[in-house]
Amino acid sequence: MALLEIQQVDKMFGDNHVVNNISISINQGEFFTLLGPSGCGKTTLLRMIAGFVTPDSGKILLDGKDITNLAPEDRPLHTIFQSYALFPHLTVFDNVAFPLKMAKWDKHKISAQVMELLEDVKLVQFVKRYPHELSGGQKQRVAIARSLVDRPKLLLLDEPLSALDARLRQHMHVELVKLQEETGVTFVYVTHDQQEALALSSRIALLNQGHIVQLDTPAVIYSKPKTHFVADFLGKCNLFEAEILAIKDNNLSLKVADCLEFDMAVDDASAFHVGQIGWYSIRPEKLKASNERPAENNVFIFTANVNGYYYYGDGTLYEFNLKNGVKFQLMLTNSKTTQAEFMKEESDVYVYFDPNAGNFLVE
Ligand SMILES: Nc1ncnc2c1ncn2[C@@H]1O[C@H](COP(=O)(O)OP(=O)(O)OP(=O)(O)O)[C@@H](O)[C@H]1O
Ligand SMILES: [Mg+2]
Repeated sequence: MALLEIQQVDKMFGDNHVVNNISISINQGEFFTLLGPSGCGKTTLLRMIAGFVTPDSGKILLDGKDITNLAPEDRPLHTIFQSYALFPHLTVFDNVAFPLKMAKWDKHKISAQVMELLEDVKLVQFVKRYPHELSGGQKQRVAIARSLVDRPKLLLLDEPLSALDARLRQHMHVELVKLQEETGVTFVYVTHDQQEALALSSRIALLNQGHIVQLDTPAVIYSKPKTHFVADFLGKCNLFEAEILAIKDNNLSLKVADCLEFDMAVDDASAFHVGQIGWYSIRPEKLKASNERPAENNVFIFTANVNGYYYYGDGTLYEFNLKNGVKFQLMLTNSKTTQAEFMKEESDVYVYFDPNAGNFLVE
């Protein structure tokens, strides 16, 4: 049985359909992420799980128990928001101890449990400090320790790292995953940052305008996007207009960007028909380029003109033009020191890739 069952939950604000018939099952121990652009309904859905917003219809079950109409404080879960919401007049120790004091734990047990959590978040030397004597990252670690100290069934996190700088955020990613594994508490995590979602989650539900557009593991969502929106939202992606010229067995013959023709395999060709229009999506890192014609088998080879590049340090993102002016991008890792100057601007080079590394999308 799933730990958290969201069943056909719906929410309107006026005539704005913010959460549209959403159903999700989340298992015990998962790091589950709600991802999507600003305004897509992530916070509203999380607030319904927390009990701060009541659904118009649908049910929310926790451990098989209907909690849809339970008051927030009666739900065995905690919520962490972007702002730290620590008690300013309490020390780090007392902030973390607060839920246990409320639950009337024995003093010695409280102390042991709090110190264990503070050790996990590496804040033992700060026990006597007050929130205003801590950095943003330290404050957020106190908030996380406080929400895990009484081992809730569920921890809801709404963009908890968005106030931190990029370096600290990355450090906190590692810490969060460790904490989640150590405590075994199920996390439901909200972010609009796709990198963060890919790095942290066991599964991701990608939302758009109140709907789930795809729900799967990070690797599947990234490599097998179901729609144009998913391919475009998650990471960089080339999206070419494409048409099906022929279908044979489980192979589609495609005409891509009006000038490239190749075959690709699909799981189920019966879902498609000849003449169908869609997009061919391929990630920039799946394309390769070379000044000489490559000798590899099972790749489609074409020529394109180097338009320019962006040097990112770890990789270089090249922009190319096809003969008809259609642009696309290609990512090369800079594993060799001079990789940034590997292809001259304005030159024609060979570009090649495995057509099965891309996807044909119809919506
Ligand atoms: N209490 C409210 N009353 C009216 N409209 C609301 C209310 N709360 C949210 N909304 C609207 O509902 C939509 C979804 O809001 P929500 O906060 O769930 O988005 P979000 O996905 O969390 O976005 P962000 O990434 O910017 O935090 C938005 O259009 C927002 O303006
Ligand atoms: Mg939000």
